[in-house]
Amino acid sequence: SKLSVRDALRSQNTSGERVKVQGWIRSVRSQKEVLFLHVNDGSSLESLQVVTDSSFDSKELVFGSSVEVQGQLVKSPSKRQNVELKAEKIEVIGNCDAKAFPIKYKERHPLEYLRKYPHLRCRTNVLGSILRIRSEATAAIHSFFKPSSKIKVPEENFFNVPAFLTVSGQLHLEVMSGAFTQVFTFGPTFRAENSQSRRHLAEFYMVEAEICFAENLQNLMQVIEDLFKATTMIILSNCPEDVELCHKFIAPGHKDRLEHMLKNNFLIISYMEAIEILKKASQNFTFTPEVWGVDLQTEHEKYLVKHCGNIPVFVTNYPLALKPFYMRDNEDGPQHTVAAVDLLVPVVGELFGGSLREERYHILEQRLARLGLTEVYQWYLDLRRFGSVPHGGFGMGFERYLQCILGIDNIKDVIPFPRFTHSCIL
Ligand code: 4AD
Ligand code: MG
Repeated sequence: SKLSVRDALRSQNTSGERVKVQGWIRSVRSQKEVLFLHVNDGSSLESLQVVTDSSFDSKELVFGSSVEVQGQLVKSPSKRQNVELKAEKIEVIGNCDAKAFPIKYKERHPLEYLRKYPHLRCRTNVLGSILRIRSEATAAIHSFFKPSSKIKVPEENFFNVPAFLTVSGQLHLEVMSGAFTQVFTFGPTFRAENSQSRRHLAEFYMVEAEICFAENLQNLMQVIEDLFKATTMIILSNCPEDVELCHKFIAPGHKDRLEHMLKNNFLIISYMEAIEILKKASQNFTFTPEVWGVDLQTEHEKYLVKHCGNIPVFVTNYPLALKPFYMRDNEDGPQHTVAAVDLLVPVVGELFGGSLREERYHILEQRLARLGLTEVYQWYLDLRRFGSVPHGGFGMGFERYLQCILGIDNIKDVIPFPRFTHSCIL
């Protein structure tokens, strides 16, 4: 029978079961009478050891070649693996020009180097681990929201009419939440962002949720914290080897930082408290947020997280002037804030952004009128006219989430084909 490398390694049937395995050669070691190959098909971090006699050796059995191996699955005499494949037949499917191949198997290529080869880097251990975790995280997020997973936001129509790439699914989600109470979406979103940043892409994936009858920010913060922790726990229990490799290879010490994040309750501070903290530390910044009313930069967000002992921290109640028109007015006098919440985390700073939405018709109408947007958003006002309810929601940058749990400094290393300014080709 045909087995993936992962299934072969986990097989309980090691008394000579005949199997066929396909994959790429990761290493070749030839001894006097025996030939050892390590074969991997991307299904696991660990490769399958193939053992055969040296008469099989050939110039084509080199790092990178694709092969099909048939033989018997047996218990390995070595302590390094449980199972190995005693090969009876090895067929090279595609030869690899090993000299020209930019990835060398014994080398630990830095992530910056691998970024030059987006079409080949996914065959390395480290990118393999990151992308397997990415896939597991996708599944974990869907399972977190399962009870409300009936809805999918419709795609834009682009036949003969101008179409736009969406920057967020939020307004569509608000429509859907008005029928299904709790909804989420998970898909690509687009922004024209500065390519120099290590936390911005032009195309990134966003997880967004919208919750009707949410009455306060506490309701939203609870879901956010649960989503972060539940998803991370699933990844840690389903791909421990991949996570360990990432932590070891990329960010030694990050394992402890992640555990620290998981075992503590996330903290909460208001925007006003955040500004007070930053003012006292102004010597640390290139730009100091002297006054109430300025937006927080990455350096400020990262400082706040450090200040909070590297525990994720919610920042609430931002000035109305800094935030989009749909956020709920706190009506709190001269400060004039809205019920917004961002979650700041180690490695990236802002990971989640959300708010209660302005559900009161007259207040929303006034704000839209001031912005000259009443006509464009008539349908959005309608939602407040026909059975409005208090509601709120949030968005999480999926790539930033992966950066945060794995300790990866550059967002371009957690997505297979990063798209950013001047580089939206591959
Ligand atoms: O804070 P943002 O802009 O919030 C929204 O779009 C809301 N409409 C979401 C909602 O309430 N439904 O984006 C949400 C998150 C950010 O916190 C950040 O993690 C991520 O999306 N993000 C980006 N990630 C990568 N590249 C970019 N250019 C990003 N812009 C935002
Ligand atoms: Mg934001």
